Amino acid sequence: MRISVIGTGYVGLVTGACLADSGHSVCCVDIDEAKIAKLNDGIIPIYEPGLEDLVERNTRENRLSFSSNVTEAIESGAILFIAVGTPPGPDGAADLSHVFNVVRTISATATSPKIIVTKSTVPIGTGEKIREILDTNGIRHEVVSNPEFLKEGAAISDFTNPDRIVIGTNSAQAMKTMKRLYQPIVDAAPSRRASVIEMDIASAEMTKYAANAMLATRISFMNELARLCGKVGADVKLVQNGIGLDPRIGQRFLNPGIGYGGSCFPKDVQAMIATGREHDSPFQILEAVHAVNERQKSVLVELITSYYGDDLSNHTFAVWGLAFKPNTDDMREAPSIVIIEALLSHGARIVAFDPVAQANAESIWGDRISYTNLNKDALKGADALLVLTEWKEFRVPNLARMKDELGAAVVFDGRNIYDPDVMRKAGFTYFSIGRPPVLADTDA
Ligand SMILES: NC(=O)c1ccc[n+]([C@@H]2O[C@H](COP(=O)([O-])OP(=O)(O)OC[C@H]3O[C@@H](n4cnc5c(N)ncnc54)[C@H](O)[C@@H]3O)[C@@H](O)[C@H]2O)c1
Repeated sequence: MRISVIGTGYVGLVTGACLADSGHSVCCVDIDEAKIAKLNDGIIPIYEPGLEDLVERNTRENRLSFSSNVTEAIESGAILFIAVGTPPGPDGAADLSHVFNVVRTISATATSPKIIVTKSTVPIGTGEKIREILDTNGIRHEVVSNPEFLKEGAAISDFTNPDRIVIGTNSAQAMKTMKRLYQPIVDAAPSRRASVIEMDIASAEMTKYAANAMLATRISFMNELARLCGKVGADVKLVQNGIGLDPRIGQRFLNPGIGYGGSCFPKDVQAMIATGREHDSPFQILEAVHAVNERQKSVLVELITSYYGDDLSNHTFAVWGLAFKPNTDDMREAPSIVIIEALLSHGARIVAFDPVAQANAESIWGDRISYTNLNKDALKGADALLVLTEWKEFRVPNLARMKDELGAAVVFDGRNIYDPDVMRKAGFTYFSIGRPPVLADTDA
């Protein structure tokens, strides 16, 4: 099938590459000419494991191409995926200007009927609005909502081995075509569990928000529980195991931390709150989920200032991890931004290491913080280590060497990746989230 993917970001590029890899002919198009020039030179503008190989193979075999000519891509594709950003507007509601710009361009330029598929996360009712815009040009296009559930860092395996593929449309013909489009992925999915779930457009749009809102709710629940554990002397990690083994609850998404970030949870929770308000059905749980998350980003700074005092001007902190989660270079809404800004405002000096997010971090802080190429180099002489992203490579450090490198054996672990007993035995002062602190003998 001839597919054009409009918007070549984290979702559009992965969607285009994976659909090409399943045999379709795909053109990925973007208004960002620099991004397209890079892709045409074989440079992948984002970090996503496995993506480079996939793009290289499919461009070499002529199934995948890149262009900045949106009109041409619209004309050449029979199925047009819209995968542009839907960032939060000033009131938290999703800003749909990019989506509607694309739809207006399709409406104005397409000379034959298309299947127009929304991959972007859009509020309930957007499909209807897209239909209204398209109906102005006299050609009967079909509208489909096909929300994306991939996770950055595991995007290719999520796309090619999905739990479910949600397709919302009121057109039987479009549904049939979409199922044919995904059939190679369903057939080849290693888990064999991929199934297409058919529904109307509004339900498909709602499904995406409901999934992210539910996951964000679990995180804020655990973060609030961790805060209470800290107050009453309970250990949230033990409680986490104690509840997670109940199959009705399950183990996933129970890690407390420094708040959720990224380009999806914060904006989707806020968009859902805005939709509730708009329809006079306030989503009170999500208002609390969002408020708890905002507060959680300050928990590590509170621990740091209560340990050292408010004036941090004589302190240097080594930071391990800047991206909002491991295996991605994405810094959008990363809790590290709020934490580092707060520490800088207290006068602290920051020396940071992240395996892949440094370039994006530099565009945020420039030379207001320092960066190192190796994680151990960030430690040299620092007053403490702060763990802000749970990259695998941080999980089993050589603690003796870490102690030697640091100016003081103090760790603030925002992701609970170390065992307090191990840290105690290694002579560290160790703070984590929702667990009793470990105070090394010299500090006790
Ligand atoms: N990133 C994720 O993990 C993820 C997961 C699921 C769903 N989503 C949703 O997918 C959508 C895209 O997210 P993303 O992270 O890929 O965004 P992104 O910012 O990485 O990419 C969006 C791209 O669209 C391009 N664009 C904007 N206007 C355009 C236009 N008129 N024509 C062509 N290109 C245009 C931008 O230049 C950019 O390259 C969002 O709605 C997001 O909520 C994202």
